[in-house]
Parts: sequence; structure tokens; C-alpha cells
Amino acid sequence: MAQEPPLLSMSGIAKSFPGVRALDGVDLDVQAGEVHCLLGQNGAGKSTLIKVLAGAHQPDEGTIHWRGEPVTLRSPIAAMRLGIATIYQELDLVEHLSVAENVHLGHEPTTAGFVVRGKAARTSTAQLLERLGHPEIDPARSVGELSAAQQQIVSMARALSHDVRLIVMDEPSAALDPDEVDNLFRIVADLTADGVAVVYISHRLVEIRRSGDRVTGS
Ligand SMILES: Nc1ncnc2c1ncn2[C@@H]1O[C@H](COP(=O)(O)OP(=O)(O)O)[C@@H](O)[C@H]1O
Ligand SMILES: [Mg+2]
Repeated sequence: MAQEPPLLSMSGIAKSFPGVRALDGVDLDVQAGEVHCLLGQNGAGKSTLIKVLAGAHQPDEGTIHWRGEPVTLRSPIAAMRLGIATIYQELDLVEHLSVAENVHLGHEPTTAGFVVRGKAARTSTAQLLERLGHPEIDPARSVGELSAAQQQIVSMARALSHDVRLIVMDEPSAALDPDEVDNLFRIVADLTADGVAVVYISHRLVEIRRSGDRVTGS
């Protein structure tokens, strides 16, 4: 019987910035439902690799296969449409917009500008926040008024508001206290139980031992 191809296969990825070769022939395979940890020192190129995967950077070399098919991730929207969501190290929320508006940003626009506005958006956002263990976050509040940990939860709610198959978390524990890290690991376990793959980036080995099925070092 033919084996299922990996969910994601990145091969020979290279990316340079002026004066810096950030990635030099990097390979990464991710299977559905696994937690794949990417471990590396600061400056190793972890964030650059996930920005390539998120469609935010174009690689200079290399190929990306998604569910066995070659793909070009031309933009963050293109990656999102395939089911790839990224929780960035520097969060990319719009501070003056509400939690619910942030969660629904990037969905197909309607004539009104957002797919779901007002009450419907707040209700679906509240359900996502509940699932993420943060029912105290008010969907109507401005994101700028929330703590860093709460903002990260909003970013995760936005990822889950799409039909996501792979969530990349770039150093997600940096802004969190120990209870919040416990909650994060619970969320990761729930996602993988649903078949979603998680790429978890960290430079802390303790976390990697705790959360990972597989580790790729750099
Ligand atoms: N947009 C950019 N412009 C120029 N250099 C960059 C840019 N992004 C990353 N770099 C450089 O690429 C290297 C890898 O960075 P990064 O991917 O952020 O590493 P990590 O996330 O592993 O700490 C570093 O030397 C960094 O300074
Ligand atoms: Mg980084």
C-alpha cells in the first residue's frame, strides 16, 4: 500500500538577506497530527523558515510540498487558504481593533468589509476563546488593552477561525507565566488529537521534551 505523503515537506530551503545567509538548504517534514519541535539558538533561522512557510518570505531556493503536491506560497493569505496558520513571535494583531475584528480579519471580505460583523462575530469569537481556556477575554474589547498572553490567545483564536491543518507557534512561551504555559500545552494536545499538526519553535529544551513528538535541530 502506498504511504501517505507528509502533510508538509520543505526541502533545500535557502534564504539570504543582505549580508546574511539565514537559511542554507533546510529540510523539514511534518506529519498530520504531530507536534514537531524546531530547536535552535537565536539567529539560527527558525523565524525565517516559518516566515517562508507562512508565505511572508519567498525562498531563494528549495521546494515546498503540501499534502504531496508542489506549492508556491506567494502570500500569507495563500498559506492560510491551504490551512497553514502562524502565531508569530512578534504578534501581528491590530491593537485598535476589537478582539472579534482581529479574529475575523483576513477572511474573505463581503461588501460590508468583514464576513461576520457585530454580534455573530462576537459570538463565534467567544466560542473560540472558551475552547482556548480564556472565557474572560471580552470579544468587544480592543486588543491593545489585553496582556501579552491574552493577545497570543487572540492570535490562536484567529488561527482556529480558519480551517487549519498546521499551526506554527514561534517561541510561544516567551510571554507566558507557568500556568499559561500549561494551558498552551493543553491546547496543543487538543489540536493534535483533532489531527492538526503543530510546529513548535523554542530554544528551551525543557519545553521541547514536554511537548514534542519529534525534534529537528538547527
Ligand atoms: N528581515 C530581515 N532582514 C535582514 N536580516 C534578517 C531578517 N530576518 C532575519 N534576519 C537575519 O537572519 C538570521 C536568522 O534570523 P531568525 O530567522 O530571526 O533566527 P531565529 O528565529 O532562529 O532567532 C539572523 O542573522 C537575522 O539577523
Ligand atoms: Mg525567532
